[in-house]
Amino acid sequence: MIKIGIVGGTGYTGVELLRLLAQHPEASLSVITSRTEAGLPVASMFPSLRRRVGLEFTAPNDEALKDCDVVFFATPHGVAMSQARALLDAGVRVIDLAADFRIQDTATFKRWYGMEHSEPELLKEAVYGLPEINREAIIKARLVGLPGCYPTAMQLGFAPLLAHPHALIDESHLIADCKSGTSGAGKKAEIGLLLAEAADNFKAYGVAGHRHLPETSAGLEAIAKRPVNLIFTPHLLPMIRGIHATLYARLLPHAKDLDAQALFEEFYADSAFVDVMPQGSLPETRSVRGSNFLRIAIHRPNGGDTLVILVVEDNLVKGASGQGVQVMNLMFGLPEETGLTQIALSP
Ligand SMILES: NC(=O)c1ccc[n+]([C@@H]2O[C@H](COP(=O)([O-])OP(=O)(O)OC[C@H]3O[C@@H](n4cnc5c(N)ncnc54)[C@H](OP(=O)(O)O)[C@@H]3O)[C@@H](O)[C@H]2O)c1
Repeated sequence: MIKIGIVGGTGYTGVELLRLLAQHPEASLSVITSRTEAGLPVASMFPSLRRRVGLEFTAPNDEALKDCDVVFFATPHGVAMSQARALLDAGVRVIDLAADFRIQDTATFKRWYGMEHSEPELLKEAVYGLPEINREAIIKARLVGLPGCYPTAMQLGFAPLLAHPHALIDESHLIADCKSGTSGAGKKAEIGLLLAEAADNFKAYGVAGHRHLPETSAGLEAIAKRPVNLIFTPHLLPMIRGIHATLYARLLPHAKDLDAQALFEEFYADSAFVDVMPQGSLPETRSVRGSNFLRIAIHRPNGGDTLVILVVEDNLVKGASGQGVQVMNLMFGLPEETGLTQIALSP
């Protein structure tokens, strides 16, 4: 059994990790931390976990974290990098859901996250935890920075087109029009997330620049091995879970006869969690709610030169905690799907 610690067990990605790991046949939940709720039984805060999780919250600096095989950080940025070295030195593997180990360029990290990176040496060995792109590196990693929720959808939606050795699309003009449910912002008190503000309402945010842009651009360039330019506009949807990304890419003249459907199907043929739907499908967020699937559908309106790629994922599962469990499975030599076979809730 894999002995597991979770720092930040009271938040949305934390409780999602608990839901998934409590059902995982090889996982043994060992330590779950909270700064404010130490001593409280986890199931008192989350009745959904009654009779499945019998632990109490402990303080985030709990020495017992060092006895775990792996520790997940489901915390705001800055927390994982303050604790990762001590855990790694104790032989514990670390998976961070925040941004501490996603962006290799420390100046870019500082610009977007407003703090110095305190562990630039550790950052160099960190692996970006997107299994469909980085599977081999993840298998060998002891420190993984999981992608953000939007970056997962955008990178997996563009990847088959960019991974081609010769440019197929105008890589200087990629557009991602993305929408997320409110759980993407975490469990914090904020006026814009109040029911009376977010429900029955719809708006864009971060149009001038969003933290997920530098991470996504770096990821897309790593896939393409060429410069790319991305315009990314996020929106807040009046629902709880789910991301819908509508991606636009213009085919270059020499690629106008591209069979994009075949390209995507072949690229993801061995990916257990990426479902390339029949061409022209309209994927719905509820088709992935609670599951680790990401579904993609390709359109080519009027047979023109613009591809429209629709991507849906559950921001808390494939966009965060499910992806974390997928990564953990790879790091510990388990089949990638272990504990992740949940079917989406419908209706
Ligand atoms: N929500 C999503 O869809 C999503 C998707 C991908 C990635 N992420 C990333 O995952 C991380 C967690 O997100 P979330 O949505 O779960 O946030 P959240 O709901 O706000 O939860 C944050 C958790 O971190 C703990 N925490 C806060 N400051 C801490 C500190 N200084 N030391 C130790 N623990 C601390 C909090 O627990 P206590 O207050 O009880 O200590 C809480 O359990 C974030 O970095 C976020 O960007 C989120």
